Amino acid sequence: MSLVLQHVSKTYNPRSAHPVRAVRDLDLDVPDGDIIALLGSSGCGKTSTLRMVAGFEDVSEGTITLAGKRIDRLAPARRGVAMAFEGYALYPPLNVEENIGFGLAREGGLRRGTDTRKRVHEVADLLEIGPILDRRPAGLSGGQQQRASLARALARDADLHLLDEPMGQLEPQLRAVLRGRVKALIKARGLTAVLVTHDQTEANAMADRIAVMEGGVLQQYGPPGELRDRPVNLFVATFLGEPPMNALPATVQPGGLRLEDGEGVHLDVPPSALPPVGSKVVFGVRPHRITLGQGRLHATVTSNQWLGDQAHVAMELGDRLIVAVAHQRVAAAVGSRLDFDFREADAHVFDAESGRALLHGNQPA
Ligand SMILES: Nc1ncnc2c1ncn2[C@@H]1O[C@H](COP(=O)(O)OP(=O)(O)OP(=O)(O)O)[C@@H](O)[C@H]1O
Ligand SMILES: [Mg+2]
Repeated sequence: MSLVLQHVSKTYNPRSAHPVRAVRDLDLDVPDGDIIALLGSSGCGKTSTLRMVAGFEDVSEGTITLAGKRIDRLAPARRGVAMAFEGYALYPPLNVEENIGFGLAREGGLRRGTDTRKRVHEVADLLEIGPILDRRPAGLSGGQQQRASLARALARDADLHLLDEPMGQLEPQLRAVLRGRVKALIKARGLTAVLVTHDQTEANAMADRIAVMEGGVLQQYGPPGELRDRPVNLFVATFLGEPPMNALPATVQPGGLRLEDGEGVHLDVPPSALPPVGSKVVFGVRPHRITLGQGRLHATVTSNQWLGDQAHVAMELGDRLIVAVAHQRVAAAVGSRLDFDFREADAHVFDAESGRALLHGNQPA
């Protein structure tokens, strides 16, 4: 079901000398049947947001609506929300099967006519914990506990599924397999889900839209491609992408930009999109968009790594580091000079002071 957060804020210890403003004025609209990812660094307010939606934390300000109904004052059990917790929160005396089944028997846990045992086994098999259904949480590894907690949430027929770092403990191979299966299950059952993750690959792979948060503030909310190609600010631009976007100081000149790279390369940019001549800006280009071997810019190679399927080449340009990614090996020794270039269409320009995006390729931001 669709979820709408309006002006939601969370302040912990509001009357103390050190209130913590964990979430600030958050607006978020999750359409029915979508998976959205909350992505951001540690402490940015992801778990606080989920806990307010689930009802384990009061909202300090704002409203939360699920399927058109205000839920922010309802008790957690009455919200129709299933949550997989960051700390798993399994019931110690129950075995894995009972943990997953817990809540299914209760009203609202399963649609009428659904076979509880069958549902538990289906979800357990999907997450590869079928063989440990008779074990208690104390006898499980961290990754097994985490999957039991995820299974318990996914087994339920809730209006909304909240998944807080549901696969953070798993090794990359298993994680990659499970994220495909979990997404397929969510889509097949038509569930609406909010997934919290640190892992941008997971967010890109699973989410219809990604919400990037920083310091309790939503920075941008949109489909993965939009965040990649049209980041609203320098934070989003450099937070997403592996390796991150290169950022170089530049100055607006008549008809374009001058990169402060020691050589002063001029870039043609439509002047209408730029602040007045002389303004300081930041020029950005993604590592995958740099072509090596020839071009207008020249830098000194500081490392050249072949990762099995791609080369990461780091270069010093003035006092800045630039990273380029190539899909073949690059013949460039550390210490050698390397020419490189990029297309104007792949350039991004940001305001140096606010970080706000001014230009993406040839289009104003
Ligand atoms: N119960 C609490 N009392 C006081 N401060 C809290 C409480 N819970 C969280 N915080 C603070 O609120 C901020 C946001 O925390 P939150 O747990 O929402 O972050 P997060 O994005 O989930 O981080 P992580 O990725 O590390 O899980 C942090 O500064 C945290 O220290
Ligand atoms: Mg958290």
